[in-house]
Amino acid sequence: MITGQAAISIREVTKRFDDIVAVDRISLDVRRGEIFGFLGPNGAGKTTTVRMLTGIIRPDAGSIHVMGHDIVKDPVPAKQQMGVVPETANAYLDLSGRQNMLLAADLYGVPRARAEERIRETLTELGLIDRQDHRVQGYSKGMQQRLTLSMALLHEPPILFLDEPTSGLDVQSTHLIITMLQRLNEAGTTIFLTTHNMDEANRLCHRIGIIRRGKIAAVDTPEQLKRTIERIAVILVGFDHQVDTGALSALPGIADVTEANGRYRITAEDIDTAIQSIVAHARAQEARILSLDTPAPSLDEVFLSITAGDE
Ligand SMILES: Nc1ncnc2c1ncn2[C@@H]1O[C@H](COP(=O)(O)OP(=O)(O)O)[C@@H](O)[C@H]1O
Ligand SMILES: [Mg+2]
Repeated sequence: MITGQAAISIREVTKRFDDIVAVDRISLDVRRGEIFGFLGPNGAGKTTTVRMLTGIIRPDAGSIHVMGHDIVKDPVPAKQQMGVVPETANAYLDLSGRQNMLLAADLYGVPRARAEERIRETLTELGLIDRQDHRVQGYSKGMQQRLTLSMALLHEPPILFLDEPTSGLDVQSTHLIITMLQRLNEAGTTIFLTTHNMDEANRLCHRIGIIRRGKIAAVDTPEQLKRTIERIAVILVGFDHQVDTGALSALPGIADVTEANGRYRITAEDIDTAIQSIVAHARAQEARILSLDTPAPSLDEVFLSITAGDE
């Protein structure tokens, strides 16, 4: 259940590395019970943001509250409430999965009996129970990531941070992790994850923030983000005879026209104006419109249009 209360509250946060502004005055609220996706291309500032939110590095300016605690001034209570799955798996390779879990239990002060229960529960759910006594060295990348998630969940945190949790993983590991995240969220856990995978963000997240060169370019539901660029949508038109593309592209509301196989692909600046222009032009040219489509943009296209020119 999503409530109005903020799980994460970010105000005017900036982080510089020498002359690079990795995160540039971002402000954002994540609500309790929400799965929030932080989506952006490589180098956009996702990891830097997560590292600030989880108290690993300090912002140069601005403030961050997690579950009501200031992460800089009051890091201990803030960190007790969070589970963190960093960009690279952080388990000890020389220890077994189970030994790593016991270390995580010590770190969070989970009593032994409860820790044993949690180890059994999470390793079973994430498909690692049969391998718990094997050294992590021999685990696949997907198994290491599942173990990292199990460790992050040991103390049953109300908020979970994950940095590209399924990036480069096999299908089975991805499925187990996504299913786990959905189940946790249904039980009330707030989830903040970064990804550069649109489909994943679309399927999993209640809201998505798009980060571009350290700045937030958009924050909305996946559905709304799609609608946002319907205004700069593409129109596909077929006429009963050839029409001059130069004349079409000069019409009000139209940004660009290309022709392929007798169909005209029109990029509209404003869809209503563009359609009126097309209809008026067809009439003036005594051309009949045989077909007119406005294909809905995919989240991919939304993302590309918002982050165009970044990579
Ligand atoms: N420790 C660091 N030292 C110097 N530059 C860094 C450091 N960490 C990140 N950066 C730079 O900050 C920018 C954002 O990086 P990052 O947050 O890792 O992006 P993302 O996770 O979205 O790929 C990049 O230009 C990156 O090179
Ligand atoms: Mg990153």
